[in-house]
Amino acid sequence: MRLVTSVEAVRADVWPLDRPLGLVPTMGFLHDGHMALVRQAREDNDSLVVSIFVNPAQFGPGEDFEAYPRDMESDLSKLRETGVDVVFAPSVGAMYRDGFETQVEVGGLGERLEGKSRPGHFRSVATVVCKLLSAIRPDRAYFGQKDAQQCLVVKRMAVDLDLGAEIVVVPTVREADGLALSSRNAYLGPEEKRAATVLYRALSLARDLRNGGLTDAGELRRMMQALIESESHATLDYVSISDAATLEELTIVEGPARALVAARIGPARLIDNVAL
Ligand code: PAJ
Repeated sequence: MRLVTSVEAVRADVWPLDRPLGLVPTMGFLHDGHMALVRQAREDNDSLVVSIFVNPAQFGPGEDFEAYPRDMESDLSKLRETGVDVVFAPSVGAMYRDGFETQVEVGGLGERLEGKSRPGHFRSVATVVCKLLSAIRPDRAYFGQKDAQQCLVVKRMAVDLDLGAEIVVVPTVREADGLALSSRNAYLGPEEKRAATVLYRALSLARDLRNGGLTDAGELRRMMQALIESESHATLDYVSISDAATLEELTIVEGPARALVAARIGPARLIDNVAL
């Protein structure tokens, strides 16, 4: 496994690798959710690149860029064990070189939900993913369903900008109690960790009600909201019952839909979603 830190070096290292080539973009502090993507990508492809880059641009002012957990040594040993060919871990200066000013402008999909709570977030995610896809030119790139809106934004971009990579979405990996694995769970104390299960409890409630025949999206949102607000450690940001492809809020759930939630639990802002 080779560790490279510049765009020029990653191009040179990746060029001779056997195809198909998979890419798993991450911000590091790897947990079993990330590793599910890495394992899937390892299975599907002859060669595999994993990127580790905590992208400052996608953190808003007052968000947790400085505090975001990092552990390069442990990440590298996990990746070595899984048979990764190249780890691309650039510095901020290597990714955003002097004079950098070009951005990917995302459409309405990036303005809802997370985009509303975190203005500019998806433009910065799309820009950095576009840069990674352009530098590495993988045949497939892997993203987690936990970040459902990110998956949709990246898929749209890959098609719209002819980036030539298939975007593969991998199911969310959860703890036994339903809590979706997230690097930000590291911010939670034991009591907060228990409280954080309210996100998945609310999503499961929506799914159960929908499966039981409830199609009134407003009612589903109200039930989720009430459950989250009953948890004293949780501060709700949003609940959504939306179209699975556009993430536009629904009135009636008929076709493929998604329940999504964002809430602050103690110091951590967490998101999660399930299919309806
Ligand atoms: P990061 O939060 O490190 O996540 C990297 C990838 O792992 C994302 O595709 C995310 O959806 C996936 N992932 C995280 N937790 C998961 C879980 N519990 N189950 C399944 N997949 C999970 O998302 C980012 O980084 C960044 O925005 C990035 C795409 C790297 C661009 O900077």
